Amino acid sequence: MTMPKNIALIGYMGVGKTTVGRALSHELHYGFYDTDAIIAQTAGKTIENIFKEDGEPAFRKMETQTLKDILDASHPKGCVIACGGGLPLSEENQKLLKDNCFTVELICADDVLADRLEKDENNVRPLLADAPTHEELLKKIGVMKLKRKAYYDAASDIKTETDVLSLEDVIDSISIFAEMWQDRQERIAQS
Ligand code: S3P
Repeated sequence: MTMPKNIALIGYMGVGKTTVGRALSHELHYGFYDTDAIIAQTAGKTIENIFKEDGEPAFRKMETQTLKDILDASHPKGCVIACGGGLPLSEENQKLLKDNCFTVELICADDVLADRLEKDENNVRPLLADAPTHEELLKKIGVMKLKRKAYYDAASDIKTETDVLSLEDVIDSISIFAEMWQDRQERIAQS
């Protein structure tokens, strides 16, 4: 059995896409790409400043271009892509994921997300700036997750919990399902 060429990780802010992505790419000897990190590096400023100075629509354009660039580049070893939380919301990005990747939604309880996001001072999320207290943040997470659910459901091939499973178990479970998915894709292509 072989592995998919591209594995994309999606899900709400704070679910652990970067942490899981790094570990998974290491385990599979794949390249690792983080769309937010590439956008910030290319723009020469933080995501927070891109939102402030250029606006969200400009950021979303950069996000789609970044995903295309990652998929267009040749990765002989395959790659793991940690996608920004809002990336699967656009129809164009959904199609890029569906056509090119085995896509995993990482999921996590709201209170765990709120704790993680409050502690992550180095990565300010502009979309959460209007929720300064813990209660407001929890409410905001609940509302945003509900609005995004259908998009995450449509874009993902499987879902994996990152709060109840250890990092090792998350990696194992993604690897097992990725092999099964690839095997199925090959059988479909041959039939
Ligand atoms: C966003 C998620 C962020 C970043 C931006 C917008 C979103 O990435 O792309 O702040 O719309 O959910 P993370 O999911 O890595 O925090």
